[in-house]
Amino acid sequence: MRNYEAHPARRVSGAVAVPGDKSISHRSLMLSGIAEGTSEVTGFLASEDCLATLAAMRALGVRIEQPSATSVVVHGVGLRGLRNAGRALDMGNAGTAMRLFTGLLSAQSFDSQLIGDASLMKRPMERVAVPLREMGADVRTRNGTPPVDIGGGRSLRGIDYLMPVASAQVKSAVLLAALYADGATTVIAPAINRDHSERMLASCGVELDIEGLRTTLHPPKRLANQRLNVPGDFSSAAFFIVAGLLGAAVDGLLIRNVGLNPSRTGLLDILRAMGGEIEIHNARESGAEPVADLLVRASALRGVEMPAALVPLAIDELPVLFIAAACAAGETVVTGAEELRVKESDRIAAMSAGFTSLGVAHTVLPDGMRIEGRADGPAFSGGEIDSFGDHRIAMSFTIASVRAAEAISIRDVANVATSFPGFVGLTRSVGLDVRESAG
Ligand code: S3P
Repeated sequence: MRNYEAHPARRVSGAVAVPGDKSISHRSLMLSGIAEGTSEVTGFLASEDCLATLAAMRALGVRIEQPSATSVVVHGVGLRGLRNAGRALDMGNAGTAMRLFTGLLSAQSFDSQLIGDASLMKRPMERVAVPLREMGADVRTRNGTPPVDIGGGRSLRGIDYLMPVASAQVKSAVLLAALYADGATTVIAPAINRDHSERMLASCGVELDIEGLRTTLHPPKRLANQRLNVPGDFSSAAFFIVAGLLGAAVDGLLIRNVGLNPSRTGLLDILRAMGGEIEIHNARESGAEPVADLLVRASALRGVEMPAALVPLAIDELPVLFIAAACAAGETVVTGAEELRVKESDRIAAMSAGFTSLGVAHTVLPDGMRIEGRADGPAFSGGEIDSFGDHRIAMSFTIASVRAAEAISIRDVANVATSFPGFVGLTRSVGLDVRESAG
C-alpha cells in the first residue's frame, strides 16, 4: 500500500501549474472519437481515470496517438463508427467514465459491459440507467451498481428529463445518448452543475438550446473535429488554493492556467466569504472555457454557513474546504451535500474519521458537517489517517500539514494518480514536506 507522511510546513511559496482538467479530458476523448476526422488535444490529463477512457475508446476501435503524455491525437470514426470491444470495458476508479460511457454505448449497435475497481463497483448507476431506459435503451445494473450491461441495437427516442440530482454525469450521459435519438432531448437540472459537455458539444457543431437549467440537444448528422487545449483542473488547483490561504509567504502563491468555468468555482466564492484573498490575473479563454492565473495570499479565515446552492458548484472541493474550515475562526456549517456520501468514498465519513484522529472538533450531519475551526496555532495534531482509497481525501489531509503540530501519516494514497499525477512533486516544489512510501 502507498502512504504519505506529511510533515508540518509553515510556509508555501512560488508558482505551480496544475495538470489538465479531468472532466474535460474524458469528454475530449469521447467526443473526438465519434467526430469526423482528426482532433488534437493538448493539456490532456494523463491520469489513471482518463487513461481508462483512452483505453476504452481504443478498444471500441478509435485510433489514438499520444505523442507526449499530455497531448493526444484522436482519429475520429464518426457517430456510427465505434465497434464492439469484445470484452468488458474497465473504467478503473472513474465514475465519470462509467456514467458517460453508459450513455454513449446505449446508442450503439453492439452489446457492452462496463466494470471498475472495488470503489466504483459500489457506486450508484441507476441514476443514469433510469433516463436512458426512458429513451428506449437496454441498460442493466446489478441491484443499482456495476457491472453495467448495455444491450445494443436499440433505437432511442428523444425525451424530456427532469433530473432528481444536479449531476453533470447524468446530464452528460443523457446528452451523449441524445446524439443518436430520433428527436430532440431536453434535460432539466434542479441546480447549476458543470457544463463542459455542452461547451464541447457546441464546439463540435452540435445544436443546443440552453435556457437557465434547461438544455435541449438536437441530434446532429455529424460531429466536427476539434483542436482543444485543456485548462488546468480547478479541482486540483483547489488543494494549492487552500495551501496558499493557510500558509503563503509574503509574495503569495501563484497557480497558473486554472480553468475557471463558473459551474466549478463555488470554492472561490465560499473561501472569499471566509476572508480568503484570491486574486484573478490574466483572465482568458481556452477551448471554450474561461482560464486565469490565481494569486493566493495567506489569509485569516473565519467560519461561515455555506449556502446549499453552492454545493454542486464545489462538490469535489468540499473535502479541502473542510480542511480550510478547520483552520478558520469559529464554526463552518456545510449542509445539502448528501452527494458526498456516494463519491469515491463516503467523504463525510472519511473526513470525520480523519478529523477525529487529528483532534478537530466537528459534528457529522446526514448531509454535511459542522466544523469548529482553530485559527490560532496548529489546527491539527499529528497522527494517522486513512484515505479510504479516495484521492481527494488523501490530498486534502496532505494540505492539512501546513497547519499541523506534528506529522500526518496518510494511508492508501495510490489513487491520487487517478486525478493528479505528480501531486507530491508539486507540493514539495512550493515548500510542503511530503514523503511517499510503501508499507
Ligand atoms: C463530474 C461530475 C461530478 C463530479 C465528478 C466529475 C463530471 O459528479 O463530482 O468528479 O465530469 O461530469 P456528479 O455528476 O455525480 O455530480
